[in-house]
Amino acid sequence: MGVTTHGRPLEECRIIARQIGMNELRVSSDTSAFEVPAVLNGTGRLADDCLRQVLTMMDTYGLVVLTNLLSDAEADFGLELMRQTIDDPERSKCAFASETDNRYRRRDFCSLPSTPPVTGFAAMLCQRLEGVYTEYCGRSRPLLEVATFTSYLGSSHQYVHRDPSGVISLFAAVEDVSEQQGGTVFVPGTHLYGGVGNTHGGTAEELMELFRIQSNYRILWHNLKKLWWMRKNDTAPLAPGEFLDRVFSTKWDQHQPNLLRFVLGKNSQFSLRMLGPRTLWKLYRQREALGQLFQLVQTAPRKGTVILYRSDLLHAGPDNRSPHPRRFFGMSIARDIIETKYWHDGYSPHPTLMAQAVTLGDLLENRALDGTIHHAETQSERASELVPNF
Ligand SMILES: [Fe+2]
Repeated sequence: MGVTTHGRPLEECRIIARQIGMNELRVSSDTSAFEVPAVLNGTGRLADDCLRQVLTMMDTYGLVVLTNLLSDAEADFGLELMRQTIDDPERSKCAFASETDNRYRRRDFCSLPSTPPVTGFAAMLCQRLEGVYTEYCGRSRPLLEVATFTSYLGSSHQYVHRDPSGVISLFAAVEDVSEQQGGTVFVPGTHLYGGVGNTHGGTAEELMELFRIQSNYRILWHNLKKLWWMRKNDTAPLAPGEFLDRVFSTKWDQHQPNLLRFVLGKNSQFSLRMLGPRTLWKLYRQREALGQLFQLVQTAPRKGTVILYRSDLLHAGPDNRSPHPRRFFGMSIARDIIETKYWHDGYSPHPTLMAQAVTLGDLLENRALDGTIHHAETQSERASELVPNF
């Protein structure tokens, strides 16, 4: 016999609460529809059939989860490169997202320098994925950033957003990432392309925006509830001043539950200005359609998995709800010319990358690294072997 609440089965009560409540953040963890197992050909690139599947996923959903693209040794090498940067007190921190989380060591987003091992690792990924990159990006298009994205317990859940358009972005899991650690959340099928506005009876863009507002309302509550919990909990204690900085600060940060900037309309990702009576009415009218058309899907990639996505796909970096740091290797390559200020607003190239630009063509022509990584015994041997041909 099932548990009941005031005469109703508990599950029925939960369903009713979900239907009338805007507050609950619902996320699917089933990524099977977006996964392709990596199969390489004799030259170390994706095999033709695998490449076709990957391109179909990228066009249909805006992302693909390529499993087993990296061997354990390659993933270990990538992790070592990231560790060297994370351990460097002089590292170059990313300035585009979650500055407050960076300040309180809830996140550590920083760019990697253009050293031969780092560029070599990026080149290996580009060469393996050459068929994908050359489908979308010309060879003269710039590498926008190479970075590490680490989040710790107590970080904020980013608002659902689009990155600057015209970019192919990559995350590589260099160790297993669990759901609790906060694998990236995507809204499959919300990428932008010519004529997308004609889909869903000509209302696609409006529906996507409504879904984003609905999700961000829930994320605001999720973050506030979590911060309130952290105030009284020793597991992830708040630093002095952290609560005020995250909830009432005047400082710019697009991804905090900052009520002051929310009320003043100073947050371009989500603010009170977006919740006018017409929008609230549309959210009510479209509540069922939104749930049927779109869903938040959270990735939990295994070591060696690589995620590629079109930058204008709706997505968010969630909070880390585990005591184990979550780390990703990331890089982005432009699909078109890109204005410098726009580039630096959305991405964080390391000063060495700004000083000497690297293009997709440079990375594809870099000496193939397959074989050298597998046979190296130590990290230092691996590093010394990864010398690119620039
Ligand atoms: Fe993003």
